[in-house]
Amino acid sequence: MTPIDILIMAAGKGTRMKSRLPKVLQRLAGRPLLHHVLDQAAHLQARSATVITGHGAIEVEAACAGAARADGSFDLKFVRQEPQLGTGHAVLQAVPHLRDDGTAVVLSGDVPLTQADTLRALVAASGGEQLALLTVTLPDPTGYGRILRNADGAVQGIVEHKDANGTQRAIAEIYSGIMAVPARLLRGWLARLTNDNAQGEYYLTDIVAMAVADGVPVVAYHITDALQVAGVNSPLQLAELERAHQLRQARALMEQGVRLADPARFDLRDDTRTGARGELLCGQDVEIDVNCVFTGRVELGEGVSIGAHCCIANARIAAGAVVHPYTHIDGEKAGATVGEGALIGPFARLRPGAQLGREVHIGNFVEVKNSTMADGAKANHLAYLGDATVGERVNYGAGSITANYDGANKHRTVIEADVHVGSNCVLVAPVTIGAGGTVGGGSTITKSTAPGALSVARGKQVSIANWNRPKK
Ligand code: UD1
Ligand code: CA
Repeated sequence: MTPIDILIMAAGKGTRMKSRLPKVLQRLAGRPLLHHVLDQAAHLQARSATVITGHGAIEVEAACAGAARADGSFDLKFVRQEPQLGTGHAVLQAVPHLRDDGTAVVLSGDVPLTQADTLRALVAASGGEQLALLTVTLPDPTGYGRILRNADGAVQGIVEHKDANGTQRAIAEIYSGIMAVPARLLRGWLARLTNDNAQGEYYLTDIVAMAVADGVPVVAYHITDALQVAGVNSPLQLAELERAHQLRQARALMEQGVRLADPARFDLRDDTRTGARGELLCGQDVEIDVNCVFTGRVELGEGVSIGAHCCIANARIAAGAVVHPYTHIDGEKAGATVGEGALIGPFARLRPGAQLGREVHIGNFVEVKNSTMADGAKANHLAYLGDATVGERVNYGAGSITANYDGANKHRTVIEADVHVGSNCVLVAPVTIGAGGTVGGGSTITKSTAPGALSVARGKQVSIANWNRPKK
């Protein structure tokens, strides 16, 4: 096998994005476009990848360095192209890094959805000897380079839209911007490029006619899926590719039996905070209602039901649990777990380190952070549990909170099994409520309580009989 050296063109400005961020760092499924392209290098088991940067070079290089560490083995290099004088000029900058024994695969940093199989087939078509172009037929080829063929159908060259005559513009087969070419041949052709054309640019596409003149076979590897070569130039195109990518992921899940209420209203994203890839692992008979966003690695056990409008990141939800609409679960790095048969939400919030046992109930406007709740514990309304250890069958009343932060340090609250905490209590940590104890509603508990005790810590009720209310 010929070694593969990837060249990624990423010097362009992306004016139409109207963004401060370099175009190749705009996100698709939560991750920069360029990371998706670097993934392709990893899938191809490339020997090296050279990113050609220009606009926003420092930012782009910094963003790649992190991605490459995550993705593995190829040698990652950068070259700068300043000024940007065309795609041929861009690739020329990388030539000093190319080794003659390799096949160069030219990719664009703004074309994120090319599949590994397609690139493998393109490399195979090149066979270490030929120039292989990835082509596609578009209903509206305006703006693209057209593939010129002779009467026998052999590829003769590429003409750019701006240089093309009327007959040539009628050709619907276009060059995708992706090619595989033996490096030793590429080097020679690039040296001979001129900028004598409508745009005054050095066109990489001019090497096709050079190959033909040199008697090097040119093969067009034609695909029908235009999405794989679609570039991002505007916010609208970015959103269109996002939807297409999400639909692809949704379909794959549905093929495994996951029931999505609407595959067009489903999102699974990578998590740049943790580096976790978007990954949704589902047991049998999982149901997901509309408009849910999953981020990072999420596991849904058998029969789990996720209501509409939930955001769930880095979490494990065990079999039979029901997550009602508008619930926000974000495990970040620590993760969040929901036990079998638990009921969560609507409008619940689980934060990092929330570990809920079987049959736990978390109701509306309840926040749980860095806390374990044992089997059967319930917090049904308007409550906060932070840095708490909650025992089995505890009932935690509406409006109650753990005061876990003294302004400098966090402290733990321990609520032992079978405790009943009334409504509107403040448990000032560190504090332990002994097993089976009861805390009267409205109490502020600052001292640990004995098992089985009733603890009340609030102003005594005063009632004045026949009270005359002030009158105007
Ligand atoms: C190029 C092809 C065209 C093809 C089209 C597919 C040439 C001359 N034309 O068009 O045949 O149909 O892609 O999308 O190659 N870039 C640089 N430096 C430069 C110029 C461009 O890094 O000096 C980068 C851009 O950032 C982009 C990629 O190269 O990632 C392609 O450039 P773009 O201007 O989008 O393509 P065209 O030249 O219009
Ligand atoms: Ca251009």
